[in-house]
This record gives sequence, C-alpha cells and structure tokens, in this order.
Amino acid sequence: MKASRVASARSWLRTSNVPSDEYLEGIYYVQGRDFVDAGIVSSEIKKNLKEKGIPESIIRKVAVVTFEAEVNIISYAEQGTIQYYVEPGSITIEAKDIGIGIEDIELAQQEGYSTADDSIREMGFGAGMGLANIRKYSDEFEITSVPKEGTYLRSTIYVNGK
Ligand SMILES: Nc1ncnc2c1ncn2[C@@H]1O[C@H](COP(=O)(O)OP(=O)(O)O)[C@@H](O)[C@H]1O
Ligand SMILES: [Mg+2]
Repeated sequence: MKASRVASARSWLRTSNVPSDEYLEGIYYVQGRDFVDAGIVSSEIKKNLKEKGIPESIIRKVAVVTFEAEVNIISYAEQGTIQYYVEPGSITIEAKDIGIGIEDIELAQQEGYSTADDSIREMGFGAGMGLANIRKYSDEFEITSVPKEGTYLRSTIYVNGK
C-alpha cells in the first residue's frame, strides 16, 4: 500500500476513534417482580461509567436514577428496559416498560406517595421517594404513561455543568 494511503487510513482510524471514546451506551432488560435481581442493572451501569472515568458525583446521581427506575419496573410493571447514553456533556437514562402504567403522573411524583403493597414494603421498597428523587437528581426529566399499557421515563444528567 502506498505511504499516503496508509497515512489516510491512520487518520481515518484516529477520527473514527473519537466517538467511541466520548460516547457509550447500553441496554438492559428488567423482569417484573424479580426482586432477587433488584439493583443488578444499576450496578452494571455504575461499573461501566466508573471504567469510563465519569466523575463520582455524576455517577452517584445516575445510580439513584437507574436504581429507582429499575425497582419501579420490578415493583409495578411486567417487564421493561433501561437504556443509558453517555454523550459529550451529558448522560441520559431511559426506562420503558409494559405494565399497569400510572393514572395520575403528578400524584405519583409527590414525596411519600406510594401504591406499594406489603410484599414490596417487606423488601424495604415503597417509601414513595423514587420518582421524587429521580426528578431531584435530573437536569432534564420527562415521564409519560398510558394506564394499562406502560410507562416511559427519561432523565438527563449534565456533566461539566453543561
Ligand atoms: N413503572 C411504573 N409503572 C407503574 N406504576 C409506577 C411505576 N413507577 C412508579 N409507579 C407508581 O408511582 C408511585 C410512586 O413511585 P415512587 O416514587 O418510585 O415510589 P415507590 O416505588 O416507593 O412507591 C408508585 O407507588 C406507583 O404507584
Ligand atoms: Mg419506586
């Protein structure tokens, strides 16, 4: 191969390496009622972000968001997914599920409001702070739900004070 071709291939490789360095994403499946595995997805995401060198203060916020979203899918939905996207300046978490959905979104976000039954409370969940805390730690937050169909939640956390 000509030297100039090699050089341009090298420069292409370097350029194409930039996105893989700044971007990272993943998707995880969450099974409803599977309390034994509660926290696995959020731990996995936390581990990936640590390896990526994301600041601890940001990881803590993402951990709260992913953990609360994960426990909500396990507690109230049939099944769902949790996705995360690391982009330059922000990390976004999306939780989608198929399930009973939420009738009153405003009420559900109030601190202390919970429809958790005894089986959920026995496991230490159901304090009614999940959505309130997700909202608190998010720089952008959106939740929509269709009763008897499912729920969609998106949280974006800024990195470097974007
Ligand atoms: N994914 C979901 N699907 C259906 N209902 C949900 C979901 N997430 C939250 N909810 C409803 O919103 C309420 C408040 O949620 P949250 O603030 O996490 O508190 P908790 O889970 O402790 O009850 C829940 O009790 C439940 O009624
Ligand atoms: Mg909850």
